Amino acid sequence: MVLGVGGFAQAVMQILSDDGAEVSCALTRNYAHAAPTLAGPTHDLASAESLAELIDRQSADLVVPMSIDWAKATWTGSLLASRAAVFSPTGDAMLIERDRDFARQLCQRFGVPFPASHVAHNRLDALEFLDREPRAFVIKNPLCSPNSPVHTILCETPGDTRAWLERINYAEGVFLQEYLGRREAGHIALVANGEVHSLVTNQEYKRAHAGNMGIVAGAPMGGLAQADPGDQYGLAKALLHPFKPWFVETGYTGPIQATGIFRDGQWHAIEYNIRLGITATPMILRMLENPVATLMRLASGESPEVRFRAGHEFGASMTLAGYGYPFVQLEGPSVPVTFEGELACDVWWNEVAFDDGGGLLATGHRVADVVAFGPAVSAALAVANENIRKIRCLGSYFRPDIGESLWPPGNE
Ligand SMILES: Nc1ncnc2c1ncn2[C@@H]1O[C@H](COP(=O)(O)OP(=O)(O)O)[C@@H](O)[C@H]1O
Ligand SMILES: [Mg+2]
Repeated sequence: MVLGVGGFAQAVMQILSDDGAEVSCALTRNYAHAAPTLAGPTHDLASAESLAELIDRQSADLVVPMSIDWAKATWTGSLLASRAAVFSPTGDAMLIERDRDFARQLCQRFGVPFPASHVAHNRLDALEFLDREPRAFVIKNPLCSPNSPVHTILCETPGDTRAWLERINYAEGVFLQEYLGRREAGHIALVANGEVHSLVTNQEYKRAHAGNMGIVAGAPMGGLAQADPGDQYGLAKALLHPFKPWFVETGYTGPIQATGIFRDGQWHAIEYNIRLGITATPMILRMLENPVATLMRLASGESPEVRFRAGHEFGASMTLAGYGYPFVQLEGPSVPVTFEGELACDVWWNEVAFDDGGGLLATGHRVADVVAFGPAVSAALAVANENIRKIRCLGSYFRPDIGESLWPPGNE
């Protein structure tokens, strides 16, 4: 059972169902409900009796949450007490994503480079800190949640930081983290019994426009993933392996994603997530030879056996954004989605609905993610590029330059 909405839920359900699992979805948000119905039965959690009853009724063995907010829900306790295993670390292990200053302390304890950071409780505190440390700081929420009053503002000069500090909601304070440049990459692994099992090295294209211009969009405009069980870029060694004693201490069992920036000859950790990630999950699950068994083994505390499908060494994901994106205050009407030719790769739908005739309507800012695979990054990108061009809806756009920068890892 997937806890989520949109293309994430559709992708996880479809891929696990293709691998033989019986799938369903508990809808956790009030939008993007249509796509998961293409892959299996869905239940609106807002109107369902209780999640635990749903799990019981369906004899669900595994629950895959889309975001970290499941741990703060009214039904969290009953989920953890239910028959199903949750594909996530629990308890204190979650703090590595939830609490940015906790992640900083963990990095300090285990010698992982982390940018200079400061938690400020109000505007004066933040401005005083900036006077003492006149450098560029990225502005973030101290506690990660999809509902945070602050979303990351990527400032690149001290003046940028100062300007944005005037416009921030300080209800939860702010986490200021020194800006380290653009040489970013990610690595995703499964952790069980204190071992780190590398899955992929990945990239996300977070800026709205081609050439990495414009603002960092709420969700990426594209992504790459490379099967990397041997950690060939050294990201797991630098950013994840040092935490092994803490993984043992907390009984960490689940996925982990590290985001690093290469500066001064080494990788610095800027963020950890306790999930495979919205962009990477639909790639990773298709790249695995046995996704159901891999997730089930891990969720039940056993060390996973990770095997990749031949010809699926690289995944490329391209997002079709709708009218107004990335400025989500700007909204248009629902418009028809039409096709020129047959789609010949994975397409996961986000903010769409069906019209009376069963046709597709774009209802929001993120229309679809088009995902393709190949034995080389160029092959995967070629298929994604060819297919995203077959989808048309008014005001939509995509980034045609995914993969042309920021890859291989360490490049700008
Ligand atoms: N210290 C930093 N230096 C440079 N870029 C950063 C830094 N922190 C964040 N970024 C950029 O902003 C993006 C979002 O920041 P992140 O910490 O991952 O927050 P979230 O994913 O919760 O929005 C990063 O992927 C990266 O591109
Ligand atoms: Mg991030």
